[in-house]
Amino acid sequence: MTQQREHDFLISGTHDDYNRQSFIQNMRMHILQDVSSGMEEVYEHRVKPAMVKQNGAEPDDGRDICKAMMKDPYGKTWAAMIHTCQEMIWESVGAGIERQQPHLNERVRGLNSRLGSVTLNPDLELPRYTTASDIHVMPGNYHTERQQDDVSQGALFDRGLYVFQSGFAGEDCDSNGRTGAELVKRAWPDFKPKKILDLGCTVGNNTMPYADVFPDAELHAIDVAAPCVRYGHARAEALGKAAHFHQMDAEHLDFEDNSFDLVVSCILFHETSRKAVGNILREAHRVLKPGGLMMHLETPRASEMTPYQSFRLDWDTYYNNEPFLSTWMRTDMKEASTNAGFAEDKYESYVVPDFYCVTEEDFEEAINSQDKADSTAVHWGEAVQWSFYGAWK
Ligand SMILES: C[S@@+](CC[C@H](N)C(=O)[O-])C[C@H]1O[C@@H](n2cnc3c(N)ncnc32)[C@H](O)[C@@H]1O
Repeated sequence: MTQQREHDFLISGTHDDYNRQSFIQNMRMHILQDVSSGMEEVYEHRVKPAMVKQNGAEPDDGRDICKAMMKDPYGKTWAAMIHTCQEMIWESVGAGIERQQPHLNERVRGLNSRLGSVTLNPDLELPRYTTASDIHVMPGNYHTERQQDDVSQGALFDRGLYVFQSGFAGEDCDSNGRTGAELVKRAWPDFKPKKILDLGCTVGNNTMPYADVFPDAELHAIDVAAPCVRYGHARAEALGKAAHFHQMDAEHLDFEDNSFDLVVSCILFHETSRKAVGNILREAHRVLKPGGLMMHLETPRASEMTPYQSFRLDWDTYYNNEPFLSTWMRTDMKEASTNAGFAEDKYESYVVPDFYCVTEEDFEEAINSQDKADSTAVHWGEAVQWSFYGAWK
């Protein structure tokens, strides 16, 4: 299993913490592979036939499948296992961070910025959708501060994400960002962004690939959560990467009009409200220079998945504290982008394999061979694939 790259502020924990995390990773893999394959059988042979009998038609909405599956004993057991596992991820990491406080906060406070910067806004009003629930069951969410200058939630996310991903996203947990940066570079080789903005960066793991792929660009990253912005800046400095972190709301950016060449985000929208999606796209349009590009990595649309695949994400809406995910999956991004000011014919959507899962040749082939009319119909063997939605200004 790929190990997470160590850096000065990573709290991977003691030997016992490590073993606990390792156990959870293995248990999670067992649930996702073995127990989940049973879920599909239960659906095909027990739940779907009962739904067809009751409704006279095959289910076409993942939310209906979710309700039916959660009444089945196998479905209930699967749900209990996966939810418990999710809680255990955070517990296995949180204990180590608590033991390191307040020392960790002091070390971050004492950091000398050499490459980038961090700007906080203590008066920022946090959107309710970022504070109302502990998203994906992470205790304290992204924003909670228990001490002055707290970075705990950033540290929790950094290690927790690695445990969750079991190393599949690379040693820096950055395969999403790397895939996005490589897509932009390879799909439009003449486009050389000089100023890049990442919205909803959390600790910047998926921001940093933009520094690697576009080393001449000035890189900015924003998030509403102060502990993540502080930690993200410290992490970037420790890894020797230059980026400017800001505590800022993507719905109300403090940047001037026409100031960025490229605006990106990585799994931000599904954690915001329907209204916020429109506001964020409008702000992206405002801060982009004419000729600039926005490109967002997100989950696929429900319409691009089978109803059963959609159920697996809809489940998270109801049982993994992702309250906006189902709504997001049914948001038409082309329409939302057009409503935000982007021309309809400037819309871009891509589905590409994870950059770390395929060769560079296959990645480029995937970019070039997309049937844009139905780009999500493509699959690249066993490689994980990511959906991108964007537009040129
Ligand atoms: C799923 S995380 C994104 C993770 C990160 N981009 C990555 O790829 O690992 C969503 C992040 O968006 C932030 N966020 C949500 N709404 C926001 C908003 N309106 N403005 C800025 N950040 C926001 C949350 O605080 C959280 O850190």
